[in-house]
Amino acid sequence: MISADCVVAGCRQVLTCRGPLPKRREALRDLGVIENGWIASDNGRIVFVGTETEFRSGVSAAAGARWIDGGAFVAMPGFVDAHTHLPFAGDRQQEFSLRLQGRTYQELAEKGMGIQTTVRATRAAGRDELRTLCLRRLDDMLLTGTTTAEAKSGYGLNAEAEIKQLEVLRDLGSLHPVDVIPTFMGAHEIPPEFSGRRREYVDLIIQTLIPEVKRRGLAEFFDVFCEAGVFGVEETAALLRAARDAGFKLKVHADEFVGLGGAQLAAGLGAVSAEHLIAVSEEGIRKLAASDTAAVLLPGVSFFLMMERRAPARRLIDAGAVVALATDFNPGSSHLSSMLFALQLGVFTLRMGVEEAVNACTANAACAIDRRHEVGSLEPGKKMDLLLLDISDYLSLAYRLGPNPIRWVLKDGKVVVKDGQRTSAAA
Ligand code: NIG
Ligand code: FE
Repeated sequence: MISADCVVAGCRQVLTCRGPLPKRREALRDLGVIENGWIASDNGRIVFVGTETEFRSGVSAAAGARWIDGGAFVAMPGFVDAHTHLPFAGDRQQEFSLRLQGRTYQELAEKGMGIQTTVRATRAAGRDELRTLCLRRLDDMLLTGTTTAEAKSGYGLNAEAEIKQLEVLRDLGSLHPVDVIPTFMGAHEIPPEFSGRRREYVDLIIQTLIPEVKRRGLAEFFDVFCEAGVFGVEETAALLRAARDAGFKLKVHADEFVGLGGAQLAAGLGAVSAEHLIAVSEEGIRKLAASDTAAVLLPGVSFFLMMERRAPARRLIDAGAVVALATDFNPGSSHLSSMLFALQLGVFTLRMGVEEAVNACTANAACAIDRRHEVGSLEPGKKMDLLLLDISDYLSLAYRLGPNPIRWVLKDGKVVVKDGQRTSAAA
């Protein structure tokens, strides 16, 4: 008999999102649903997922095990947010207001606003202030179902402030239950003091910042904003090669506004993911489809910037790419922390099926941060990161807009949200 210290009994539906991973084409529509499903874990790891009969014949609950009645709920894996810019200070409400009056995001960036506004605020912020901001945001995320979040630096753009952002991300590990996966994104923008000397900033990243962040062990991934007016394809390639040689896994902000070919570059260099892809070319789609590089779509950006243009989710899925969804949580282009809302945007604005959007926010999102064996599906051996939703059928994840149906969140087998409220369980 398998021993369990936590049992969730008789859920209306369990969306296992089980492998094989990653999920491509038709497989993306398979949620591996178990009606009246049971889930058990021990020491924070899933030991069983199946029917009541299978549970009764194979699992024994330890004395004092926690039992949760799942009868009113649909169960699914915690969301994996594969793309956030979590550690920033300040806000961009002024720019939001200007955008509402018709200015574009790019126009504002060219005037020295945009990312630079947040760089000024983040450089000026103390470590404690930044940590407090992040903790509050992680609470928001957890309440809407995110149990693992990638998080990027990139609002420091010098050694001191980038390291401050990354150290804050590291601190969060012992302070908050959401697992935070750190990405070094010193190549998010050219800092103002290097204006007209972009080559020198690229050299600084390659020669000083990459080795320093690596030496301190502060990031797992390296990311570049490959975009017209930011880092060109050649610069991006040089940066990615240096980061890969230093031992970082790669991510790329690719083809967000202008299709420079970032997707092909990411696939060619074996990046774990290429993100945005609103302006991806046919060739980019083909190269992604033929690779393991995940296509992380961020529908919050087109929505928040009120752009007609959207990432070609259907074409990417049909071609066979590994499609994931994420929030791109940041103060300028997508001030969105809810993966539930990202899922709904995937359905309503990218024309994904509900099943596809769920897998894109869980199983494939885990692949997009190289965590396919740890999170993103309910399968024995993986973390007991579980959501219990007050809905009668999983279609209501997208059908029912507005109310938050997530009543319970378990993280590593601990109850961190109960009745829709944060519990005191820390990390
Ligand atoms: O993913 N594209 C670059 N970075 C962010 C925007 C950051 C900002 O505007 O502060 C993005 O859209
Ligand atoms: Fe981003």
